[in-house]
Amino acid sequence: MRHPIVAGNWKMHGSRVENARLVEELLAGCPATPAAACVVCPPFVYLQELARLLRDSAFSLGGQDVCADAQGAFTGEVSAAMLKDVGCEYVIVGHSERRLLYRESDQLIARKFAAAHARGLIPILCVGEQLADREAGRTREVVARQLEVVLELCGASALGQGVVAYEPVWAIGTGRNATPEQAQEVQAFIRARIAARDARIAAATRILYGGSVKAGNAAELFAMPDVDGGLIGGASLKADEFLAILATARPG
Ligand code: PGA
Repeated sequence: MRHPIVAGNWKMHGSRVENARLVEELLAGCPATPAAACVVCPPFVYLQELARLLRDSAFSLGGQDVCADAQGAFTGEVSAAMLKDVGCEYVIVGHSERRLLYRESDQLIARKFAAAHARGLIPILCVGEQLADREAGRTREVVARQLEVVLELCGASALGQGVVAYEPVWAIGTGRNATPEQAQEVQAFIRARIAARDARIAAATRILYGGSVKAGNAAELFAMPDVDGGLIGGASLKADEFLAILATARPG
């Protein structure tokens, strides 16, 4: 049985007041014992303040990115130790916006995963193909490459202590989600790649789906056997929508 995770990626949205208001609305509407682990990933600068609001709640805090290096002369970067220090339990690594807009390589992302894991954070590794890859029949090839670099550097055990999020790039922020069958197909493939190294770890690894998840499609996506919850962007910015998504998660 895998305990599902529903994580909100708030990206670069909202002010200090708006981020705090969103947290307060989530806390007010969340059941005492939700069926999934709930995570919110606000912008870095608001983490510390929101950690105080979230203390002793059902919500965990995550960063949206992390530096691959532990400390030093890396202007603008935030280390895994700093995220831990302000109360984060999770951190997203390799989001497609980092891969595409900031040209982060598979190798850099694997080092970020390793840095987060070494500091006791739970990395959420995002993988996923672009539309052209899917149309050219290269989805498995792309996802396997993104996964293997992390497996090589960190090993199956570290990967299994983290989380994988399958996020097809064409589905992110487009309103066009993968069908439950498309998500299941790729996520079963991801699990099989991990199983090729260690079947027990693969069976326990949480694999989320992300890309235009909303209250109206979450239940059918989360019902698929290899979909263990979701990484939610736009819909996580509205408390009632995010809580409705959370309510559809079931242990599986
Ligand atoms: P979306 O974003 O839910 O707005 O498509 C998902 C993500 O970027 O993680």
